[in-house]
Amino acid sequence: MKFFIDTANIDEIREINEWGIISGVTTNPSLIAKEGRNFKEVVKEIAEIVNGPISAEVISLEKDGMLEEARELVKIHKNIVIKIPMTKEGLKAVKVLSSEGVKTNVTLIFSANQALLAARAGATYVSPFIGRLDDIGNEGISLIEDIVNVFNVHNIDTEIIAASIRHGIHVLDAAKAGAHISTIPYKVFLQMLDHPLTDIGIDKFLKDWDSLQTK
Ligand code: E4P
Repeated sequence: MKFFIDTANIDEIREINEWGIISGVTTNPSLIAKEGRNFKEVVKEIAEIVNGPISAEVISLEKDGMLEEARELVKIHKNIVIKIPMTKEGLKAVKVLSSEGVKTNVTLIFSANQALLAARAGATYVSPFIGRLDDIGNEGISLIEDIVNVFNVHNIDTEIIAASIRHGIHVLDAAKAGAHISTIPYKVFLQMLDHPLTDIGIDKFLKDWDSLQTK
């Protein structure tokens, strides 16, 4: 399973990119708004840092508006992926973009049927939101399992991005279920990295080493 970072914060992207573990970035209108900066400028800066797919989301709810936005966004960088909400109009836009060779990421997926529709319309990626399903008392991870299963049975090559990740267990469960990618917030990368026994171990190694220097 590959890792994307789910943020529009340049410092977070630079830091995790230096770890050498991310192969893409996802943003959404809320993440962009949090940065309080010009959308296209942020997306351009991200694409100059990370050499991989960068999802930028359209705001329009009509097919023609989505296509207009998408055609502007793809001019920013060759790695831009157009993120489109899972709606009727969204599917129509995905169909057109996919026939033009533009990569798409269908977002706000909450059922396997939605994922199937998006895949059949030509989506490059689908983004099932597991955290938001957990929030309403559903089991988010079973959605990933269902989509993986259905896509495998029918040889669908649309990649599954486990999204709305809240903690490391989500990442591990998505990996076990067979998601191709997890898009992970910065703070979850830190949780995945840390283990108290690692810190205790380093501390002990250094103390033992220091005691040798005094002999
Ligand atoms: C994915 O592409 C979305 O940007 C993101 O994972 C949504 O996560 P949230 O439910 O934490 O807002």
